[in-house]
Amino acid sequence: MTPINQNTRAKGKQFRLVKFFAYASFIILILFSFPFSVVISQQAKDILMRSYENYALLVGENLNHQVFQNFSIPVSRRYGHISLREKEQYELLDRVVRNTIHGFNVDIVNIYAIRQGVIAYSTESRALGKKVKTSPGYDKAVNGEHSSGVLAKGDNLWGLGIERIGGEKKLRTYIPFRGVNPFTGENEIFGVFELIQDMTQEYRSIVKLQYFIFGLSTLIMGLIFVALILIVRKAERIIEERAREQMELEAQLNQAERLAALGQMCAGVSHEIRNPLGIIRSTAELMGGMDDANDSQKKLSGVIIEESSRLNNIVTEFLDFARPLKPNLQDCYLEEVLDKNLQFLEPELDKKKIAVHHNLDGRSLKLRADPQLLYRTFLNIFVNAVQSIENGGTITVNVEEAKNHYVVRIEDTGCGISQENLSKIFDPFFSTKETGTGLGASIVRNIIEAHGGSIRIESEEGTGTKVTIELPRG
Ligand SMILES: Nc1ncnc2c1ncn2[C@@H]1O[C@H](COP(=O)(O)OP(=O)(O)OP(=O)(O)O)[C@@H](O)[C@H]1O
Ligand SMILES: [Mg+2]
Repeated sequence: MTPINQNTRAKGKQFRLVKFFAYASFIILILFSFPFSVVISQQAKDILMRSYENYALLVGENLNHQVFQNFSIPVSRRYGHISLREKEQYELLDRVVRNTIHGFNVDIVNIYAIRQGVIAYSTESRALGKKVKTSPGYDKAVNGEHSSGVLAKGDNLWGLGIERIGGEKKLRTYIPFRGVNPFTGENEIFGVFELIQDMTQEYRSIVKLQYFIFGLSTLIMGLIFVALILIVRKAERIIEERAREQMELEAQLNQAERLAALGQMCAGVSHEIRNPLGIIRSTAELMGGMDDANDSQKKLSGVIIEESSRLNNIVTEFLDFARPLKPNLQDCYLEEVLDKNLQFLEPELDKKKIAVHHNLDGRSLKLRADPQLLYRTFLNIFVNAVQSIENGGTITVNVEEAKNHYVVRIEDTGCGISQENLSKIFDPFFSTKETGTGLGASIVRNIIEAHGGSIRIESEEGTGTKVTIELPRG
């Protein structure tokens, strides 16, 4: 494993930890935000209940006073006894009670007669005369203590504090009815007031608040979670990209090292071959030119001259490939170089019925480059394109100007390159042609890179090939 891979894995692990924290904190917050919202709303409910209870106590005290002063005392004096079965007495009490609670937020008032154990008075006529259902609150009031409790219609689901919005909520308060017995002169508890207040509206707001807090905290955490995951994903992608670039760079370095060694060897061998080759060629020329040479000797020396010059070309290509490239930079024009290429190839293009489309007319594409090297580069590309086209086709040359560079696209409608071969195209000596050296594409890349540019080849078998070159303007 390379150090790069180890590095990437270590970083991957770091991010796995970040992801784990993101998921864990999201789950923890979901788990805690609900109890949190329940606690907050419970506190609000307690405060609401206490304020209703205090309110009820105040009303109760007032009621106690009013009923005692304006009903109990006058009635006892007038009739000598209190009996609410008598219409007159009942109506007086009803008036006193209704006047007292008028304008206060109290829904129902019941007055219990302790001795008889019945509801002696009620603002709701249907409750009148009903037997008392004893409850801890009622018993407390009988013993002189007040107390409150919530009357709810079962909507606290599973007892977990999860409540449906819309349930009816009332507060019931029991208050002892005290007074001084006009006959004995002693402090006594005559009965029990039961006050019922409706707090549904306020309660509903609190339950809504509870769901709002829960929803909001889940939403905020959800957003943070999504943001965190997106950041982690992005960081992972960047790291992967970096690792890939580094690996490519390493591969290029290895390739460059191999090529350098190969180049040195080629240069040495080519140089050694060229000298004797020159001697062979000039000797053959001499032999062919001799006066006493017969026809077959002349023909044979012609073959030697032809083959030795082909060999010379190959050796020259080897040397080109092997020699370190130092472009002789000067101001030149891209459209001139490409035009010259196309003019040179015209007879071949005509022969193979290849149409050329380009966007060079009337343009002035100035750049700093070595025009000879550029000429050889584009020639190699054009020759490959021409060779790929069998029965007529098209070559399209498109030059675009970017801010600091030119983008040259050369497309052909030839045989295309298989995926497998596409990856080998820049390997020296890779060729699918019988007479090809397989150095053309390598030389092209060397030249382009020596100019600080880049080359990319895309191709689809059976459809054609597109070569994209980026060249700095210099
Ligand atoms: N435009 C193209 N269309 C189809 N195949 C192509 C094209 N350009 C390159 N190739 C393929 O890539 C191979 C390598 O190309 P390269 O130019 O390096 O060598 P070559 O053309 O075979 O030989 P030479 O050294 O004479 O150029 C070719 O043999 C061919 O299979
Ligand atoms: Mg070629």
